Amino acid sequence: MSAAPIEIVILAAGQGTRMKSSLPKVLHPLAGKPLLGHVLDTARCCGAERIHVVYGHGGDQVRCALDDGAIHWAEQAEQLGTGHAVQQAVGDIADDSMVVILYGDVPLVSPATVARLIDAAETGLGLLTVLLDDPTGYGRIVRDGKGQVLRIVEQKDATEEELAIREGNTGMMAMPARELKAWLQRLGNDNAQGEYYLTDLIEFAVNDGVAVNGLIAADHYEVAGINDRVQLAELERVFQENAAVTLMREGVTIADPARFELRGEVSCGRDVSIDINVILEGKVTLGEGTRIGAGCVLKDVEIGDNVEILPMSVIEEAVIEDGCQLGPFARVRPGTRLSEKVKVGNFVEVKNSSIGAGSKVNHLSYIGDTTMGTDVNIGAGTITCNYDGANKHRTVIGDRVFVGSDTQLVAPVTVEDGATIGAGSTITRDAPAETLTLSRSKQASIKGWKRPSKEQQ
Ligand code: UD1
Ligand code: CA
Repeated sequence: MSAAPIEIVILAAGQGTRMKSSLPKVLHPLAGKPLLGHVLDTARCCGAERIHVVYGHGGDQVRCALDDGAIHWAEQAEQLGTGHAVQQAVGDIADDSMVVILYGDVPLVSPATVARLIDAAETGLGLLTVLLDDPTGYGRIVRDGKGQVLRIVEQKDATEEELAIREGNTGMMAMPARELKAWLQRLGNDNAQGEYYLTDLIEFAVNDGVAVNGLIAADHYEVAGINDRVQLAELERVFQENAAVTLMREGVTIADPARFELRGEVSCGRDVSIDINVILEGKVTLGEGTRIGAGCVLKDVEIGDNVEILPMSVIEEAVIEDGCQLGPFARVRPGTRLSEKVKVGNFVEVKNSSIGAGSKVNHLSYIGDTTMGTDVNIGAGTITCNYDGANKHRTVIGDRVFVGSDTQLVAPVTVEDGATIGAGSTITRDAPAETLTLSRSKQASIKGWKRPSKEQQ
């Protein structure tokens, strides 16, 4: 790695017209994170002393979304070419730095590749190239008989012979700041597009006797740029399959890597199993032997060992301890903690509640703003009425409580340890320990009552 401080310039001023979007291209998400966010993370990962982003179209939106207080933002009001773009940032760069140029719409370049570029620039200029079956649109790498890079010629300026070259320019390069600054001053725009080409630097380097060290990218996806939503979807798949392969190698079973979605970070114990179409968002932890059913969405959750989440469950900002069983169709909302071996069944919603070990809420319930003890059984259709239209109130349920089906617990209310609530009750006052409490109108049977029948015509 370079002894000189590293400064990374990310070009992100392009319009992104082919996205046909009101969102700037570099803010479109890949794996749940803006394209430019991926490049920024890579730059941070490479130990960049300073990161510069050249922005143009939709600049305010881009800054708002990604500013971390440390990024140096450089505006390129008019897009006059990649060389012109770098010129906008260079005033902020120290002379003794090593500069790396990356692109906001090439999201999957790896820190390892950037490190190779920096190494290559220790003895000259590091240039990342790519071998392509169809190099259309790319600048072509012109090498001499000995394989030394001589220059880059843009597609629109190339001769027939040059167009046949299959080695393309990725645009990513690294070089000492002093040289970069000197060469940028020499750039002209006398070419087919009337643009200031960054690629002209290569010829300047060669003329100045600076070695151009061309590195061929190992993986195409690392240098793939995004111009439209088709390419975005293609690269999303590449990212997801890579993520799935990494997890499988760590001992996770993934039913189908083509139907796996990671939009954040996941850490898994051994023998975790993830069925198809599961979406993992934010920060997700899955303990040993935990199984996630088809179609579940898990966001910012910590899930213990041997938990079973049945299909179509949605869990967000919650802690689920060992041995719990949830779903199918469970909804667990923020602020929830389920202790060991809790069962939350189908069509049950739990919000901002803690449920003690071994308790069960199996069918069609809403448990909100509740503190529940251990070994409680909540009957089907039970609802905590936590909201009076203005304020939220807590429901407290002790240990070993049995709540009969279709009960409403009107908060604030406490059901003490060992209490039993009769089915169909509306509980508005505290229910004492070890006692049956019920509120129910008396059942009546009316003798001789006749069911109405259709009138005869
Ligand atoms: C550029 C390279 C070409 C290379 C190709 C790889 C030049 C002259 N050509 O082509 O050799 O094969 O990338 O994709 O460098 N940008 C700005 N400001 C500008 C122009 C571009 O910030 O004024 C940014 C864009 O946002 C984009 C990147 O630079 O991220 C590349 O621009 P684009 O127009 O896609 O590439 P070309 O110039 O056609
Ligand atoms: Ca262009």
